[in-house]
Amino acid sequence: MPHEERPFFIIANWKMNKTIREALAYVEKLPELLQGVHLPVWLAVPFTAIHSVRAALPPEIHVGAQNMNDASSGAFTGEIAAAMITEAWGDFVVLGHSERRQFFHESDEFINKKVLRAFQSSLRPVLCIGEGFDQREAGETEAVLKGQLEGCLRGVSAEQMALCIIAYEPIWAIGTGKTATPELVAQTLAVIRSIAEAQFGEESAANMPIVYGGSVSPSSAEALATADGVDGFLIGTASLDPEGFAKIAHMSENVRSNITEL
Ligand code: PGA
Repeated sequence: MPHEERPFFIIANWKMNKTIREALAYVEKLPELLQGVHLPVWLAVPFTAIHSVRAALPPEIHVGAQNMNDASSGAFTGEIAAAMITEAWGDFVVLGHSERRQFFHESDEFINKKVLRAFQSSLRPVLCIGEGFDQREAGETEAVLKGQLEGCLRGVSAEQMALCIIAYEPIWAIGTGKTATPELVAQTLAVIRSIAEAQFGEESAANMPIVYGGSVSPSSAEALATADGVDGFLIGTASLDPEGFAKIAHMSENVRSNITEL
């Protein structure tokens, strides 16, 4: 069951999809599709679309980036700085996604510098962590998650920590259609929260939202939304279609309101 006091986030990760024109066609439909949804909805869109998407949406829907560099400016051809995202009106940034780690060889140390830069720049980080299939099979999940959390959050204060959203994304579930079971999600989120507790204290760990990502779809969302301790979703493939994305938001809203009514 999700926590009653922490918000439940519905976060889209469009990855390298949608031109500005396609993005605008999507967001034109979104507010109406989301009528009746009161949960926070965030869209992580390509850099080029941040400004237009932000300008086209009501303020309650947040818009952010999927990556950034840790430096404030300089000779880093092809990179994007935090100030460029905030100037485009983005207010959050996804960091450490497994695709960045895998295809662009990002280390925990590099991601850590980005997390610190994000806080300095008033961008809320959505920090992705998750184990690979072989690591889970070998019983290494806890050690992998601990290494990633400690490595990526070095130097982060307990107050900042409560603002960081952790996205638990098991690599074997991303884009594969293989969703983790609600039991596995609940169990792993509890492990993550206890690692954070040891690092940042009980209060910060209790306030820290942890969302799940990995093949969340209209058919898996309802069951996953009931997993103990889950504070929302990071949605890739299923977020590319506004109807499907809105459906996940509505399902989550229903699960949430049933819980708060209990
Ligand atoms: P998916 O992607 O929903 O397509 O599995 C999730 C993510 O990578 O954030």
